[in-house]
Amino acid sequence: MPHLHIEEFREIGFPSNSDGVSFNFIADNINHKEEKLISTTVEDDEFFLLLKEEEGRVLLKVDKLTKPASIYNVHKALLTYAKAAELNVLSSNVPQNQKNIHLQEVTALKEISYFAGNFPKDREIRIEVGFGSGRHLLHQAINNPEILFIGIEIHHPSIEQVLKQIAIKKLQNILLLSYDARLFMELVPSNIVEKIYVHFPVPWDKKPHRRVISTTFIEEARRILKIGGTLELRTDSENYYAYSYETFIAFNKTTLHINKNRDIAITSKYEDRWRKMEKNIYDVTMINDEESPELEIEGDFEFLDVHLLSEDILKLHKKVQKFDGGFMHLERTYGLRDGIMVRLSMGSFDKPEHLYVVVRGKEAHYYPALPLKSKSNLIAHQFLNKVLHG
Ligand SMILES: C[S@@+](CC[C@H](N)C(=O)[O-])C[C@H]1O[C@@H](n2cnc3c(N)ncnc32)[C@H](O)[C@@H]1O
Repeated sequence: MPHLHIEEFREIGFPSNSDGVSFNFIADNINHKEEKLISTTVEDDEFFLLLKEEEGRVLLKVDKLTKPASIYNVHKALLTYAKAAELNVLSSNVPQNQKNIHLQEVTALKEISYFAGNFPKDREIRIEVGFGSGRHLLHQAINNPEILFIGIEIHHPSIEQVLKQIAIKKLQNILLLSYDARLFMELVPSNIVEKIYVHFPVPWDKKPHRRVISTTFIEEARRILKIGGTLELRTDSENYYAYSYETFIAFNKTTLHINKNRDIAITSKYEDRWRKMEKNIYDVTMINDEESPELEIEGDFEFLDVHLLSEDILKLHKKVQKFDGGFMHLERTYGLRDGIMVRLSMGSFDKPEHLYVVVRGKEAHYYPALPLKSKSNLIAHQFLNKVLHG
């Protein structure tokens, strides 16, 4: 993760613009005085820089929640702030020349809004969930140039590694997304996907709610798959296999195939490791046999006037509020020069979203982006809207 260690933080005036980077406002964490967020815009990316005082020095890096797809824009924001505020930089891992030719050239990495706005439908689509080193994804894309592959991963170093390969191999048929695949599924139109690969998902034996395979995931997979389309799970975990089998078999109008130690065209790093250890490898392939209704999600993320006083909003800090269909947890609170900001986790328990909401007087809005338009987020928004409206 790119960062600077600085001797001392200095505030510039907000808002201000320097070398094409806008610094919009600053937010002070109310409960942890050592932490601040700086709202920053570089080109089309809007995100927070995070400042944290630690052991006699200050760390300046990008906020994880709002981190943009372009690491290049993060580098630019960090260096520009340091220059504008004349910070004394003690150490840094940010490249000064800002030129990572691979990352700059590549347009394969997309934001979630790209898919939410106008989902690509002009080609056959296959999705790989948690592509890791990308061996399987790259192999498939090279061998099927007419098909569009969408790779979803939450591990940034893996994404960057695969982006490099896409640039080096000049592949035109892969899009990557840094997002929780379980949430992504909810915005894919119905009946358009040919294959979904889930290869060696983390088994999460102790935290099963974090598993990729679940009843909701299979429901969404069935909805987005064409008739005859497949969801292909491959795992070395006997426990995960047994759990998945139980979950899959509950579905009607699907066909299941089970294979043990089947060879496939390309093995991943994980698979090589398990094979060396002579572990069994299980495949569960679900074929969708039914057409699904079109995706229709009604509602928006507008707020009514806020009547709850800011001091009362801040009192909700750390409180978890449950409602039918999900929960809302006010994780952090911030003071702005002209209002407040809160960081929330909300939505369904197994796949919550983390978001910021800015409140200035009677006006509230999500910042810097709206939540993903999913059923569970819309229900959570209605709840939050009621709480703030009073
Ligand atoms: C054990 S690795 C397997 C990687 C690759 N499929 C392989 O076979 O080598 C699991 C990968 O899934 C990713 N992952 C876990 N949960 C995810 C989620 N909810 N959405 C997207 N990716 C996820 C992890 O970051 C990790 O890279």
